[in-house]
Amino acid sequence: MQEFKGKTLVISGGTRGIGKAIVYEFAKVGVNIAFTYNSNADIARDMVEDLQTNYKIKAKAYEFNILEPESYKELFEKIDLDFDRIDFFISNAIISGRAVVGGYTKFMKLKPKGINNIFTATVNAFVVGTQEAAKRMEKIGGGSVISISSTGNLVHIENYAGHGTAKAAVEVMMKYAATELGDKNIRVNVVSGGPIDTDALKAFTNYEEVKQATIDLSPLNRIGQPSDLAGACLFLCSSKASWVTGHTFIVDGGTTFK
Ligand SMILES: NC(=O)c1ccc[n+]([C@@H]2O[C@H](COP(=O)([O-])OP(=O)(O)OC[C@H]3O[C@@H](n4cnc5c(N)ncnc54)[C@H](OP(=O)(O)O)[C@@H]3O)[C@@H](O)[C@H]2O)c1
Repeated sequence: MQEFKGKTLVISGGTRGIGKAIVYEFAKVGVNIAFTYNSNADIARDMVEDLQTNYKIKAKAYEFNILEPESYKELFEKIDLDFDRIDFFISNAIISGRAVVGGYTKFMKLKPKGINNIFTATVNAFVVGTQEAAKRMEKIGGGSVISISSTGNLVHIENYAGHGTAKAAVEVMMKYAATELGDKNIRVNVVSGGPIDTDALKAFTNYEEVKQATIDLSPLNRIGQPSDLAGACLFLCSSKASWVTGHTFIVDGGTTFK
């Protein structure tokens, strides 16, 4: 794990759920972290303090809204002032609440605005964030990019048409990015999760039902935890994955087969 020391991860949505677990997984092996938050400035501030004090890494939090993907340009300029290199970029943040009205619903109730918001936050944010990260990675001879996706583009999840379709799109976009960035030694992959017990899942109207169905479907008899995806991200950013690019790494507790 020595290989990670002094490298830098940029990740969107580091304050909760899967993003937070990834932040700590990388901090444990000495990676400096630039992470974003949207509404939880207090959590972000406490995390920075904890990461710097207890993990002895450099950490900084930046306010950011994935519904405005173009602002990734400004965000990376700010990060440039605080960090001298960018090795890893993980597009993780997801919108919820009012922003997904008309997007998180049944097919017959979908509305273009809700679908567009989810597409913007998922696909456009991945594109602009990866473009900015890749420019920096090229300068240091390479890097690793990951988009967090979900198996809701492989199996039906109630009300998930907007998200599932955007996740399918980001998985294809990832392949284009991987193909075009390979000669800069930048690898691009997706980590796709089955249902993971986070705030985003708790916001599902049928959370208890999804949780029980996941436990029933998984040969491992449990729902996924944020740390289950974090380990996959660390692997894909390591030299052990140096010939892995353009792929989706599914971490679903075996739930999509049954
Ligand atoms: N949970 C699952 O079952 C599951 C399964 C597979 C894949 N995923 C994917 O994993 C990723 C993380 O999901 P999660 O379950 O960890 O979500 P979560 O617990 O709801 O956390 C969402 C994160 O995104 C940030 N965020 C919210 N709105 C934002 C906005 N408008 N602009 C920028 N950042 C914003 C939040 O920041 P604040 O705390 O500041 O609001 C928070 O850090 C998503 O891409 C999701 O689709 C989730």
